[in-house]
Amino acid sequence: MFEIFETRYRHVMKTITIGLIGFGTIGTGVVKLLQDNGEVIENRLGAKLFLKKIADLDITTPRLVAVDKHLLTMDAKTILNDPEISIVIELMGGYEPARSFILEAIRKGKNVVTANKALLATYGNEIFLAAEAEQVDVGFEASVGGTIPIIKTLKESLAANHIKSIFGIINGTANYVLSKMTDEKKSFQVVLKEAQKLGFAEADPTFDIEGIDTAHKLSITLSLAYGKRVRLEDLHREGISGISPQDIEFARELGYRIKLLAIAIMRDDCIEARIHPTMIPLSHLLANVNGNFNAFHIVGDAADSVFLYGQGAGMMPTASAVVSDVIDISRNLQRGVSGRVPARSLRENVIDDIKLMPFEEIVTNYYIRLSALDRPGVLSRIAGILGAHDISIAAVIQKGRQKAGPVPIVMTTHKSKEENIQKAITEIDQLEIIHGKTMLIRIEDERL
Ligand code: HSE
Repeated sequence: MFEIFETRYRHVMKTITIGLIGFGTIGTGVVKLLQDNGEVIENRLGAKLFLKKIADLDITTPRLVAVDKHLLTMDAKTILNDPEISIVIELMGGYEPARSFILEAIRKGKNVVTANKALLATYGNEIFLAAEAEQVDVGFEASVGGTIPIIKTLKESLAANHIKSIFGIINGTANYVLSKMTDEKKSFQVVLKEAQKLGFAEADPTFDIEGIDTAHKLSITLSLAYGKRVRLEDLHREGISGISPQDIEFARELGYRIKLLAIAIMRDDCIEARIHPTMIPLSHLLANVNGNFNAFHIVGDAADSVFLYGQGAGMMPTASAVVSDVIDISRNLQRGVSGRVPARSLRENVIDDIKLMPFEEIVTNYYIRLSALDRPGVLSRIAGILGAHDISIAAVIQKGRQKAGPVPIVMTTHKSKEENIQKAITEIDQLEIIHGKTMLIRIEDERL
């Protein structure tokens, strides 16, 4: 038996040589994981992963891991020009020179692993086509959902399914801020400042808070789930900076929790895709994904519901995803089957541009919070405008009494069309009895 095994696998490579570009937090995690878990990786792979070179502009600041100084270089070309290196890990981030380095590595027949979601969301098409032409692998598990195996799940585990829907919490910072606002009844600004002090939010939090990072990740997810290229600017995107403790409290009373969701729903002839704060039932698993955790609820037509949960960022969770790609790619290299699983799940020749449902056409339930004077006839005027736009009210809450000032009035609607809601709100906001801008939050209930 042992002899048969030895004969069959005699040709298999015993060492896979790797180069790492970018020795920041995740790069450090990758080096640590290769050092700490080298034995279990070798047992699973049947080969050693040999990290030959690490390139970074800063090669003097001490890292959490000890590396031989001969491994370090400031010149990424040392890695790209080394014929022994068959896998290049790009963890420098940003568009350039990351894009050029990856394309050069691919042109030289090297396989690539990257965590760079912004780059893939913008230049993914160019990179994946180049990889297909050269028959090399590009691994990007770490680019969406950190350690969560969402890429592998869509590419492999659910490969037999039409993906009916994906609802994801895919930005840890935004989820952390919303969770703290909910648990501690604090305002967005106060929680954001605290999160920045604790290192849970960046000094410039725009990408995370305004849903840009979520859009990058949703665009990559859409390409895998549907084989569609999407332009980032076509995705409807709203962030969480407008959410107030008042909305969170009303949501709780109505039986919901507010989450920043990335949503993809398969329609007959198009895909509905959007990113915005969403009220979801308190009892749903996604409503209980708190702090900086990420999660996905995917529905396949055959598989039904699949739920994935885990750390969306962080040194070791992200390094785990990066090294798992390195192992997958090494397994392909060992059998001479690089490119075995198409990078975007579907074969490149069937991938085309996405037909997105225009945002105005989506149909869902809505939460509307108005600030109105407390006088007889106010509700009937508001209800009249909603009715004229074919919007049916499901519930109304009015709290407190003010002789002079405005009071909050909250309404939820039955299924309504976005276009109608927008028109009605514009009209309502012009009434002299309405103070300030009306708050609108979409509710996802039975489709979750
Ligand atoms: N900034 C991201 C987040 C992590 O807060 O989830 C990296 O994608």
